Amino acid sequence: MKRIILIGYMGSGKTTVGRQLALSLGLQFYDLDWYIEMRYHKKVSEIFAEQGEAHFRDLESRMLHEVAEFEDVVVSCGGGTPCFGDNMQYMNQQAETVYLKATPEVLCAHLSMGRTVRPLILGKTGDELQAYIRQSLAEREPFYSQAKHTLDVSLLDNFEKISITIKLLREELGL
Ligand code: S3P
Repeated sequence: MKRIILIGYMGSGKTTVGRQLALSLGLQFYDLDWYIEMRYHKKVSEIFAEQGEAHFRDLESRMLHEVAEFEDVVVSCGGGTPCFGDNMQYMNQQAETVYLKATPEVLCAHLSMGRTVRPLILGKTGDELQAYIRQSLAEREPFYSQAKHTLDVSLLDNFEKISITIKLLREELGL
């Protein structure tokens, strides 16, 4: 039985890498944000706006406990998932956890492309975004670094870079 959970800051490529890793290993792929949206018929941004972050964190933790029971899966988490309650400890108990580690510059470049609505960075200017990433990444690093594996990633803006990342990840996981 294989169960792999990808963690890391917003914009580190968890969903992109997770989907491709699952494909290459013949496993099911779950994105925790999408799973929450499917179960509650609401966008994450709507849950934040209507019920607040604390409520979202509660749902997120409960949904994590559902998907992390599934077998033969790759799961990509939200950027904040490892940093609340005992989520990180639980993930390490359930799965091979991988931290996709990127520099603030890479994260900023990716998040500036802004394809997804992300409530925590909504409406921030370039400078504000950079400052926010630096500060919150420093706060989150102690949680992320508890993952069993860490992989340094750069801006995953083309297929070749994604393929190289998948190859390195499979080597790291011995799969
Ligand atoms: C969050 C990251 C988001 C989503 C929510 C909160 C965070 O997921 O769960 O907006 O706290 O970093 P992604 O990392 O997939 O953007």
